[in-house]
Amino acid sequence: MSRGLKIGLGIVGLAAAIYVYYTEIKPVVIFGLRDEYAHAIPFQKIPEGLTSLSAESCGQCHREIYDEWKTSIHSKAYEDPFFQAYWKKDKNIWVCLNCHTPLENQQPTLVKEIPRGRVEKAVQEPNPRYDPAYQKESVTCAACHLRDGVIYGPFEDSAAPHPTKFDPNFRTAQVCQRCHNVVSGPAQFYNVGPCGTYAEYEGKFFMQERGFICQSCHMPEIDRPVATDSPIRRGRQHLWRGGHDPDMIQRAVAVQVKADPPDPKPGQSVAFTLTLINAGAGHKIPTGDPDRHFTVEFTVEDGQKQVLAEQQSTMGRWILWQPAIIEFYDNRLLPLASREYRFAYRVPAQSEGLILKARVQYHILTDGQHEMLQTKYGLTGTDPYRFLIYERDFPLSGAFAAALSASNRQAALGRQPDGASCKAS
Ligand code: HEC
Ligand code: HEC
Ligand code: HEC
Ligand code: HEC
Ligand code: HEC
Repeated sequence: MSRGLKIGLGIVGLAAAIYVYYTEIKPVVIFGLRDEYAHAIPFQKIPEGLTSLSAESCGQCHREIYDEWKTSIHSKAYEDPFFQAYWKKDKNIWVCLNCHTPLENQQPTLVKEIPRGRVEKAVQEPNPRYDPAYQKESVTCAACHLRDGVIYGPFEDSAAPHPTKFDPNFRTAQVCQRCHNVVSGPAQFYNVGPCGTYAEYEGKFFMQERGFICQSCHMPEIDRPVATDSPIRRGRQHLWRGGHDPDMIQRAVAVQVKADPPDPKPGQSVAFTLTLINAGAGHKIPTGDPDRHFTVEFTVEDGQKQVLAEQQSTMGRWILWQPAIIEFYDNRLLPLASREYRFAYRVPAQSEGLILKARVQYHILTDGQHEMLQTKYGLTGTDPYRFLIYERDFPLSGAFAAALSASNRQAALGRQPDGASCKAS
């Protein structure tokens, strides 16, 4: 074979390999398929005794639960502007709907077949029973409670106007597993999938050992009538607060500060240490969506707010998305784990008015990602995407030590560093 021919064949071979990689191996979404979410929850009919499947209609009798759900992100998982923008980026591919609008009743198409597990090759046809108004209800009551005309729930002795059935899974993490757990597909190398909180729970960490389930923290216990004119029972609030709620994030994090020397004088160097503790989450912080991260920032400002020194660290995970998905680095905190962030600074001879600021922020996405979604994928709305979790000023000329102990005292009051603010089940 001539040299030219060999090179020619080599190029053709390489082109074919690249073609096969991109059409058959490279994933088009950031997770593989697991049976449970490869398909929608099959079509559900209105149960006997009821007139509608809508959450609002359930709310006629389950008023408080409906009101809670309505404020939760489960009720907005479809219209959520962050979802809409990322969904557009992913060319509105159907598979996302199986968790964000999981019932067949809520989906415009029926997926007949998924050749070789390639989501982009799925054979789809229009769904004649698609209800666009129901789609907007996202993760609605029926997604968790309704199968084959029966309302499933945590009780064995309900007296309801609709058929009910006891399902012990409601009092385990199993109800959350379907959607809060994704698996990796081909050419995807990560430890826990992008929305894989459940897998962090399944591991050896503290949640199970201490009897925590997802609901312990995300659905607080409450004694009340479950429906209008019903007896009082112990149930749970349908709130599901998480990364969009600064108070919830605050419950996860405890911050301790110290300095050496504890009361630096002008001209001295001070080594400042901020310890971040995952004191209140039963999984890593942050968890879920891999864009989420914390930043720990130190700045020294003068009286005119001019920045004289600054340092920033990030806690999260770093994933290479192209051409394969590879997780490089994960420095998130396991439950009850802590990490020290250090900042060294030499206090100048003239320290009058200088302030060392320590700040912890939580980010749903980076500023760059936010801008990209706004300019390219129509991210609308003014939903905040970053929250200040901790901020304290430590004056470098004066009450430095007092500010340190005030911060630690407040931290001790505000927190129970074992997730005890939510009861184990
Ligand atoms: C006309 C009033 C009414 C409507 C409408 C209604 N429910 Fe109920 N539901 C009840 C009553 C009453 C109970 C029993 C309460 C008890 O025994 O303490 C109940 C019980 C339940 C339970 C507990 C079941 C168990 O055994 O653990 C669930 C879950 C539930 N309903 C969900 C729903 C959902 C979802 C809808 C809407 C699709 C709905 N309900 C519509 C009145 C209603
Ligand atoms: C049918 C799918 C589904 C089930 C079942 C489900 N979730 Fe979710 N959950 C979602 C989706 C989708 C979102 C994201 C919504 C969004 O941000 O657009 C979400 C969001 C959340 C959030 C808020 C996360 C954040 O970003 O702030 C919490 C907390 C949560 N779920 C807890 C639970 C718990 C606890 C259970 C089990 C009782 C559960 N979920 C069951 C689909 C589900
Ligand atoms: C993401 C899943 C999910 C969704 C969505 C959901 N529930 Fe529940 N629901 C649960 C879980 C888990 C429990 C069990 C709580 C417990 O341990 O008492 C529950 C319990 C209940 C109960 C029994 C009372 C109680 O507090 O235990 C009723 C009634 C109920 N849900 C009604 C509704 C209605 C109405 C909606 C919609 C407005 C809804 N649920 C949406 C997961 C869900
Ligand atoms: C011991 C309490 C606790 C338990 C148990 C727990 N969580 Fe959380 N979770 C939290 C706190 C506190 C936050 C807020 C911190 C944060 O957003 O990282 C949170 C945040 C989240 C978020 C938002 C993602 C993020 O990092 O912003 C999701 C999703 C979530 N939890 C799902 C779950 C699921 C699913 C389970 C069960 C497998 C579970 N949680 C069990 C306390 C808990
Ligand atoms: C297996 C279920 C599942 C599938 C499939 C899924 N998601 Fe989600 N998604 C979730 C859950 C659960 C959350 C809740 C928060 C978390 O875990 O970070 C979420 C959160 C998100 C968020 C963050 C929303 C916010 O406001 O913070 C975006 C964006 C998102 N999903 C987009 C998508 C897109 C686009 C697809 C399809 C390519 C998709 N999801 C497919 C379960 C799923």
